[in-house]
Amino acid sequence: GMNKNDVISPKYPLIIAHRGASGYCPENTLAAFNESLKMGTKYIELDIQLSRDGELVVIHDTTLERTTNGKGYVKNWTYEDLSRLDAGSWFNEQYKEERIQRLQDVLARYNEAAGFVIEIKKPALYQGIEEKLADALSEITFQSDLLFPVMVQSFDENSLKTFRSFAPDIPIGLLVKRQPAGISTKRMKRISQYAQFINPKINMVNRRLIKRIHSVGLGVFVWTVKDKKTAEKLRLYGVDGIITDFPDLFNNRE
Ligand code: G3P
Ligand code: CA
Repeated sequence: GMNKNDVISPKYPLIIAHRGASGYCPENTLAAFNESLKMGTKYIELDIQLSRDGELVVIHDTTLERTTNGKGYVKNWTYEDLSRLDAGSWFNEQYKEERIQRLQDVLARYNEAAGFVIEIKKPALYQGIEEKLADALSEITFQSDLLFPVMVQSFDENSLKTFRSFAPDIPIGLLVKRQPAGISTKRMKRISQYAQFINPKINMVNRRLIKRIHSVGLGVFVWTVKDKKTAEKLRLYGVDGIITDFPDLFNNRE
């Protein structure tokens, strides 16, 4: 299986483009992924769901209305239906040719240029999505010069455990949000039985949380960072990755 020490910690955080460069382009589209690579990012975060005919598709919401001109649930439409939708105009008319992508196509297109952080969205809606994802990943030859070429993350612990049973060598991250009781070290240790990362929402992060996650031997990617000051603070905390809508945060383009 995967060894935690294989994946944790360069000297500065990895920058991961959240749904691509989604601050600049429509999220989870080729335009957003291309833009993030242009900005020099090495990692792309994206979200997956299943079409009616069982294709893994790259889209954040379970429904189509917010980011496409389609209607209803993603899972009620075939990939062919979905591939005809406009996935860019909602953001800006200039992106009207953007389409919902199949995961396989995105992996094949970018695997020589980027690593991937793949989020399994709402797995309770998608029977068998973990095995399909494991199969899709096994078909790709990932590049070897990145710290790690692919991580799978989810808010759903059972889904991650299921995925791990199909793909024991792929690093796993548990997404967590702030809870009233916080997240105990005991719970972190349980998480470390099946995951290599705990990926917290920015509003629950402080220096001590990062230290505690590291002390149980796990890595930590923080989401979603939107400004340079926060990114700088997280770098000082020693986080392993920063998931951001603005992947040029650490570049001095101005
Ligand atoms: O990468 C973590 C983050 O993407 C989780 O939240 O809603 O943006 O998918 P969301
Ligand atoms: Ca996500």
